Amino acid sequence: MVQAWYMDDSDDDQRNPHQLEPNQTLSLEQLKNLGVLYWKLNADIYETDPKLAKLRDEKGYSFSDIITIRKDTLPNYEEKLKIFFTEHLHLDDEIRYIVDGSGYFDVRDKDERWIRIAMEKGDMITLPAGIYHRFTVDQKNYTKAMRLFVGEPVWTAYNRPADDFDCRKQYIEYINKTLAAVASI
Ligand code: LAC
Ligand code: NI
Repeated sequence: MVQAWYMDDSDDDQRNPHQLEPNQTLSLEQLKNLGVLYWKLNADIYETDPKLAKLRDEKGYSFSDIITIRKDTLPNYEEKLKIFFTEHLHLDDEIRYIVDGSGYFDVRDKDERWIRIAMEKGDMITLPAGIYHRFTVDQKNYTKAMRLFVGEPVWTAYNRPADDFDCRKQYIEYINKTLAAVASI
């Protein structure tokens, strides 16, 4: 099962786990309350997987491509890693399926704390439009991911601050509502 934890604030290598001591983990439910959705699939058969096909059909994830993030395959690797690790948001959901290797997706919680989500082969995640996030490879320096999108893909990243976008305002409204509902149970 995917592991997620609150990060320490040390500024050593971004590829390190950056766990607190003791480690403070989060459940899938807590991620869901932030609008982050997770699925586990069989990445050995990603090209023919009927479960993936069904999910794509239900969600309307019509577009897909594969990105291989590794020094020898990704042009301008170091520069791209810097861009990926710069805190940003998108106007659409970011949908990633790790078909090989691993990597870290970091998202902000409602109090601006960084949560690190350790994604491995078979893990699929959706980050909602308007959530501040970033990505890095881990110490293995290799992520092969399927990028999915509803319709024609738009990869534009808006670096923080990007608070004036409607999707950001809607996202904040969404988490405030969700977390208020959770708190009242
Ligand atoms: C992206 C990741 C790096 O926007 O968040 O592709
Ligand atoms: Ni992104």
